[in-house]
Amino acid sequence: MLQAKRTNMGNNSGAVQVPLMDDLWADGKWEKQKFIQTTIEGGRLIQAVDLFCGGGGATHGFTQAGVQVVLAVDSWNEALEVHKLNHPDVETACFELGGSIIETAAFIRSKLTHGAHFHLHGSPPCQNLSNAGKKDRGEGLRLVEWFLKLVEYMNPDSWSMENVHPLRRWLDENDVPFVIVNAADYGVPQTRKRVFAGEGWLLEPSHVKEDWVSIIDALPHLNGELIEIVNPKIRKRTVHEPIRTITSKTSSQTKIKINTNGCTESMSKRARSTDTSIDKPCKTLTRQIPTLRKVNGEATKLRALTIEETATLQGWEGFKVPEGIKKGDLWMIVGNMVSPPVAEAIGRGLI
Ligand SMILES: C[S@@+](CC[C@H](N)C(=O)[O-])C[C@H]1O[C@@H](n2cnc3c(N)ncnc32)[C@H](O)[C@@H]1O
Repeated sequence: MLQAKRTNMGNNSGAVQVPLMDDLWADGKWEKQKFIQTTIEGGRLIQAVDLFCGGGGATHGFTQAGVQVVLAVDSWNEALEVHKLNHPDVETACFELGGSIIETAAFIRSKLTHGAHFHLHGSPPCQNLSNAGKKDRGEGLRLVEWFLKLVEYMNPDSWSMENVHPLRRWLDENDVPFVIVNAADYGVPQTRKRVFAGEGWLLEPSHVKEDWVSIIDALPHLNGELIEIVNPKIRKRTVHEPIRTITSKTSSQTKIKINTNGCTESMSKRARSTDTSIDKPCKTLTRQIPTLRKVNGEATKLRALTIEETATLQGWEGFKVPEGIKKGDLWMIVGNMVSPPVAEAIGRGLI
């Protein structure tokens, strides 16, 4: 668990009139139901800035926790289209991060309300970490180092940085506080492991392994859709019979699996290692379109998951999809996401 440490931004100190959520609600500025838990320190407004925001997984989670996201930045237009459709109230900006720290900090500060709690989040990409040589490793880490310099320069009240699991060694060597998070421990139907560095929050898992949410829990409509495909001999139920679940009626040799590597018929080691039975949380989603397959010694593709189903496996129900974005881009945007319930737990865990 992260050792929380509170820092104070210089320009946030002093006797200032801190806006309270109730005042803002009274102004009719925000809909009350959007802000479930917004207050620390007796009603202080919490604002977040989401850098490398992609389609908005982190923004969505923070918003669910009642944090007001005042700015989200990415250099990828398509991802920002997704972000805007799902979070039209959040200001977005499209430009390349990684330039002047002073200018970036000034731009961010211009969006913050004086006296509010400031949380800075970033998901800087980090390439080729696991098998890169030292030189390539440096280049792959450029944006991570840049983000950490920005944190040091801005000294926010709290901050978080999400990244791939192999970054933990580098963080450890550089004394950056971090925790390894398995999204399944936060109610996500996916065993996605990511590293979250940061200060000023504590994470409280909501689920233990025994109660992890499975694929079929998250996508219960698959029961009705699949049961006759899997077992064609099965008689349609009468209205008086209880609903059969796919897991209870599938023969023990036949498994319905979700493959997160887009494998269709392959039974290679790689294909099998990215398969999960639907009564468990799925393996880590990537840019590949997940496939629903029937595995019984050999594998048969049943169908691909839809983008909305894929987003649900990231813990984001009700995800909206803009028109005109290429399929490959959509799955990359969703596969890249911070699982919103994890960001929500950080937002709720601010201290
Ligand atoms: C891991 S994804 C972020 C996912 C996002 N946090 C979410 O929860 O949906 C990394 C993002 O960084 C963006 N990116 C990469 N290099 C960038 C740069 N120099 N400036 C701005 N954005 C950049 C990519 O377009 C991508 O959307």
